[in-house]
Amino acid sequence: MEVPTNAPPPSTTESTTVTDSSSNAPSAFGSRHEQVVFCHDEASGLKAIIAIYSTALGPALGGTRFYPYASEQDALTDVLNLSQGMAYKNALAGLDLGGGKAVIIGDPTKIKTEALLRAYGRFVQTLGGRYYTACDVGTFSPDMDIIARESDFVTGRTVEHGGAGDSSVLTAFGVYQGMRASAQHLWGDTSLAGKRVGVAGVGKVGKHLVGHLVEEDAQVVVTDVNADAVAALRQTYPSITSVVDTDALIREPLDIYAPCALGGALNDESIEALTATIVCGAANNQLAHEGIEKRLDERGITYAPDYCVNSGGVIQVADELEGFEFDRAKMRATTIFDTTLGVLERAKSEGVPPSIAADRMAEQRMREVGRLRSVWLPTS
Ligand SMILES: NC(=O)c1ccc[n+]([C@@H]2O[C@H](COP(=O)([O-])OP(=O)(O)OC[C@H]3O[C@@H](n4cnc5c(N)ncnc54)[C@H](O)[C@@H]3O)[C@@H](O)[C@H]2O)c1
Repeated sequence: MEVPTNAPPPSTTESTTVTDSSSNAPSAFGSRHEQVVFCHDEASGLKAIIAIYSTALGPALGGTRFYPYASEQDALTDVLNLSQGMAYKNALAGLDLGGGKAVIIGDPTKIKTEALLRAYGRFVQTLGGRYYTACDVGTFSPDMDIIARESDFVTGRTVEHGGAGDSSVLTAFGVYQGMRASAQHLWGDTSLAGKRVGVAGVGKVGKHLVGHLVEEDAQVVVTDVNADAVAALRQTYPSITSVVDTDALIREPLDIYAPCALGGALNDESIEALTATIVCGAANNQLAHEGIEKRLDERGITYAPDYCVNSGGVIQVADELEGFEFDRAKMRATTIFDTTLGVLERAKSEGVPPSIAADRMAEQRMREVGRLRSVWLPTS
């Protein structure tokens, strides 16, 4: 699950903030995590934390974020929140995988070396497969190839090394499936033809998403802080239009808004200005704070939960565990349609916002399927 370098770490809007009851400092024991491992190799400069939230459904899978955290406490808070988020994403995606995540503390442009990455790989190996790593902010497929020289538990490697390559391909495909499901739920028809869709951020995921939308004859409006990215996309797809920034985009008459840039896209101001009746995009952590999901509901906006619709990337890299086959991974990512529809229907029937329904479904799967581990099996 390659998360872009511009995502806003440390994550501020994941579902829980794990703090010690006696102070505001993050506390591993104040959380519900199974295991938190601190890894230190002085010579290479490696300082990493691996957090496993849950292995109820299988080994924990989640990326390694390489980021210059202001403090070790910030790094701990981030990895605890991110690993919990992965457990929910993997559970809802129907994967037999638990949730984990790792952070390497430091500026990757300054301290990333072969020795540091390999030292990190050796620590991943010590967990014996309880945690599989992948790309995240500050780590890329070639880094995974290096880590894999020391560890058997690495995904997100380059295609040349048997990896799944660029995960944004199926992330975008999954978001597109989520949009079709949202359209079905709200308008009784999966078709996006003629619908006006605003895409904020046309980076790796956004540009593939635009391709799917144009192919279906949607009217696409885009924006990006990177003018070159917009210009290149407009050359590829002459039918699309662009606006100056995200503020302008959300005020455009839209049917669907797809945040595909940074987290926190849905905040108190943006949702009041939004004209779209569906929000479905790739960005992680779209809800800026708790309570926003209720306001979206009150405004009659159908919100397809971010971690539900953007799970195509983790589905893509998880397929490496079976020997990567793109067609099989794509078939699995197609199930995001049914999952999104299921989330929206459950939200309606239980009278809760879709983000709450998604959490309930993920927790239910972890509980019900995870419980089966209590049935003793003889070892062969
Ligand atoms: N790549 C994946 O497989 C994947 C998987 C799951 C979730 N996501 C999430 O999807 C989002 C996009 O990921 P990506 O891989 O395409 O990243 P990316 O870095 O390739 O693209 C992000 C784009 O957003 C633009 N952008 C940044 N700030 C902006 C702003 N204020 N307004 C408009 N545009 C802005 C950037 O210029 C860039 O073109 C991220 O939130 C990421 O966490 C990505």
